[in-house]
Amino acid sequence: MKSVVYYFTGTGNNLQVAKKIAEALPNCELISMGKGRHDNTKVYDYIGFVYPTYAFNLPRRVTRFINEMSIEKSKNAYFFAVTGCGNISGVALTVPAKILAKKGVTLNFAEEIIMVGNYVAMYKMNERNLEKYQTATDQIPVLVRKIVSKTQQPAGKVNEALNLSTAFGQKVIYARKDKGFNVSDDCIGCGICEKVCPVSNIKMENNKPSFHHNCEQCMACVQWCPKEAINYKNKTQNRGRYTNPSISVKEIIEGNKNNRQ
Ligand SMILES: Cc1cc2nc3c(=O)[nH]c(=O)nc-3n(C[C@H](O)[C@H](O)[C@H](O)COP(=O)(O)O)c2cc1C
Repeated sequence: MKSVVYYFTGTGNNLQVAKKIAEALPNCELISMGKGRHDNTKVYDYIGFVYPTYAFNLPRRVTRFINEMSIEKSKNAYFFAVTGCGNISGVALTVPAKILAKKGVTLNFAEEIIMVGNYVAMYKMNERNLEKYQTATDQIPVLVRKIVSKTQQPAGKVNEALNLSTAFGQKVIYARKDKGFNVSDDCIGCGICEKVCPVSNIKMENNKPSFHHNCEQCMACVQWCPKEAINYKNKTQNRGRYTNPSISVKEIIEGNKNNRQ
């Protein structure tokens, strides 16, 4: 039996969930959708996707990953999708069901889990938000058991009107590219931002990060910077920072490295 869990994460929430699922599944690989790809030469029994919700839909990179994967060899696998979102997942679970259906595959299980909202460019990392960490952590074992036992919990059909309206939010997010990010004099040139970026959008140049216009808006650079030297416009300076307490910066970095390129 072989399993694979594909994840996408900025601040570690979805890696926390993906890791717990992967630990419980037989012979499981854990692969970032940032740079990794699906190996269609292998036959899997479980194939999972764990990712945040962005603008009530999937992160662009995750949509692309699922769209591009060929799964002929594993059509009979148990497919599952989990989105660790901040509040409302919108169509983030029904859209992958639709993409997979077009490939002749059923998404057997879909579930949202409410986690700490990490979109610091939009709101403060306040106490009420941070409290969600514990509630989510308590829910993970139940979720894992459902997946291991191959529970059938379909996502349902995409609400196309909602899907269309999320396209606008997505356009706004991605049109920003990385134009708003700035680096203060507190930067010590440690290069952590470069390494935590799941899509290699940051390169250290003259000991300072430079952004290469392929940003997913995951907030990893802003949130993991040990000096809080990266900000989005003038919005994030006093909003606090959040990274998932169960996940170390080292795990994020290793996860970004260990991909099938
Ligand atoms: C660009 C962006 C857009 C987001 N949009 C939503 C959203 O529409 N609905 C929601 O519930 N959470 C939203 N969030 C919050 C994340 O989905 C949530 O914090 C998630 O757990 C972060 O996962 P990560 O730590 O694995 O990156 C958004 C976060 C970002 C960075």
